[in-house]
Amino acid sequence: MDQTAPAVDWTVARDQELLRRDKRSLGQNIFAGVAQYHKAQLAGIGVTRLTVLPPGQLLPPSAAVVSNTAWEEAAQLLPLQMHWQQSMPGTFDITFSLSADAVCFGLGERFSGLNIRGAIHTLTTTDQTRHNESADAFYKAIPLCIIGSGTNYSAIFLDSSAPQRWDLDADLTALGGIELFTRRGWQLYVLGSASLPEIVAAYTELTGRGCMPPLWALGHQQCRWSYPDEATVTHIALEFRRRQIPCDTIVLDIDYMDEYRVFTTSPARFPDLKGLAEKLRQQNFKIVTIVDPGVKVDARYSIYKESVAGKFVCVNADGTPFIEEVWPGDCVFPDFSNVATRDWWGKHLEFYTSNGVAGIWNDMNEPSFFKLKNPTPKLICQMPEDADQPFFQRDSTGTVGHLEVRNLYGSLMSQSTFEGLTEVEPNKRPFVLTRSAYAGVQRYSAVWLGDNMSWWQHLELSIPMLLNMGLSGVPFAGVDVGGFAGDCSAELLVRWYETGIFYPFFRNHCRLGDRAQEPWAFGAEVERHIRSLIEVRYSLLPYIYSLFWENRDNGAPLMRPLSWHYPDDRYAIRVSDQFMFGAEILVAPILERGSVTRPVYLPRGLWHPFGGGEALQGEQLHLVHFPLGTVPAFVRDGAIIPLLSSVQSTVEYHKSDITFRVFGKTATGTFVDDDGESFGYASGQFNKWQLSYSNEQFTANSQHSGFVGSDRQYFVAAADSVRTVNLK
Ligand code: GLC
Repeated sequence: MDQTAPAVDWTVARDQELLRRDKRSLGQNIFAGVAQYHKAQLAGIGVTRLTVLPPGQLLPPSAAVVSNTAWEEAAQLLPLQMHWQQSMPGTFDITFSLSADAVCFGLGERFSGLNIRGAIHTLTTTDQTRHNESADAFYKAIPLCIIGSGTNYSAIFLDSSAPQRWDLDADLTALGGIELFTRRGWQLYVLGSASLPEIVAAYTELTGRGCMPPLWALGHQQCRWSYPDEATVTHIALEFRRRQIPCDTIVLDIDYMDEYRVFTTSPARFPDLKGLAEKLRQQNFKIVTIVDPGVKVDARYSIYKESVAGKFVCVNADGTPFIEEVWPGDCVFPDFSNVATRDWWGKHLEFYTSNGVAGIWNDMNEPSFFKLKNPTPKLICQMPEDADQPFFQRDSTGTVGHLEVRNLYGSLMSQSTFEGLTEVEPNKRPFVLTRSAYAGVQRYSAVWLGDNMSWWQHLELSIPMLLNMGLSGVPFAGVDVGGFAGDCSAELLVRWYETGIFYPFFRNHCRLGDRAQEPWAFGAEVERHIRSLIEVRYSLLPYIYSLFWENRDNGAPLMRPLSWHYPDDRYAIRVSDQFMFGAEILVAPILERGSVTRPVYLPRGLWHPFGGGEALQGEQLHLVHFPLGTVPAFVRDGAIIPLLSSVQSTVEYHKSDITFRVFGKTATGTFVDDDGESFGYASGQFNKWQLSYSNEQFTANSQHSGFVGSDRQYFVAAADSVRTVNLK
């Protein structure tokens, strides 16, 4: 959000004494409730579950866990030498050992390199305006940490929406600790040991995987806070077409609304949203609109009236609506923990779909308030008693203090949005984007990492941050290309696109009042570079789509650390500034101003520069020259990559030729095709081929056939020849 708007900071300056609480002084357990141990197999690996219920408590409904696994009673034993105790009412401590060589991944959104060991991590959803090292609570709270090295990883998933503080060996004592501040029940899962892909497969079986995204949402999205009126939006869209820069989506930020009232449009500036959407549709564009949770307090505003009359809002202790300030001024806040609220909100989304809006962007849903005082001095030691909760919500167990369920707010809002959209248009894959999230959000929404800055450091950090999001089960993620806050420079924008074309969610967005950063904002030379980079993104769409398909099968993220594919490579596990994009492409971007070379570590095998040229030998560090505008990537020898011929948007996808580009003398690949928008694939309406190449022969073996609809030609490009092929 705007740097000038005061955010609620739920964390306080760290109380060093408290953090140094001696982890070894267990044995003061005051716990008098129920603890149960169970075990099961998930995706082929062992999982142990601990269920803890303080006296008189029911287990809160889990928003994350969806698996129907049969659990067996187990002995009172947790792996990883774990111990837990309730040290005071409202606080649990969990400790575990960390072997010397273990690295830690995950915990969702972390302002950190890839290995998150050696620091304290606070999990309380926070509208974090300071994206720097002194901040450790961010928009998302995903309590999954993967611990290990090589082929031997375990994971801890603490399924509680209450605030948590994870100490991953911050004092270098080889101990990990979690402080959980809750008065309710919770469940802890320990997964493994197993390989990194197996751990993520099991975790995403437990917490679910997303549906296939609509193809259009994988194209380039252009946003700005805010395109002020319909004329500007039309102009921006037409500029993309006139300049032949591929793009699928224009995103409308808060100013499309009537004084920031959700489910309205400004009569003066956006008098005809439907007409605008139609005009853009004719140019093959989609519209996505922002929808914040705050509902303006206004006696003449029907959404406000309904929200209060229907008891759909968060309340104070006396039952009156809780009111706080956000963009519209005073607002009430839908209580998304309540199923009735989710249904009510979801039904209203018809306002957007009937006006031709294709996707919904949920923001400020930590939730973020402009005024509420910081409640953390108490929170940091224990969950407050009900009387001290800032406000209240309802879930299936009854009334609950906000802080107990705060971390769920964004996820439940996305769930409501996803379900509302599928209700209105049952056979259309929804596109939902959220800023705040809890574990399992991948079932409903894509995420972006909030208000980054137009800084080189934030470009660099986007890599490990997105890698950890992917390992935390959330594959459809990105950061604002060009940086949100501050003025972007020409060089930074081009370099950001070089990396951004590989973000699963690919959006250029920037803040009100900052320098424009549309692809043409810095003149012809920069525009030329960005155009060709976006063209590369579009050419990779068939490959990207097959990676989403893979994610659906086994939870593998699109962006993967090198050690995902090269677990026994002891150098690969330390690499934080390169990533695998699927199994076949290694990305190593320039992340420094003025730089045109960088060291690139290539794992074993032979690697082909993406743009052509001599292949490089792996298991070596290379100093590589990447002039401005280069695609900073290498393709593994032995890969077949399906590449789409040039298009301006995904509307042309099914009519455009695809070339299977063969890298090496023997190679394999996959290609999946479906309509890219309906749920038909779930009932078999898709085609899948296994591709192979050897002895100069290309073969496409059909593994599934169920989709008729693409009207295109296929080519194979191997060595120096290109020829057509038939796919049956
Ligand atoms: C928040 C969002 C940002 C958006 C702004 C105005 O800061 O993170 O993306 O542009 O609000 O809606």
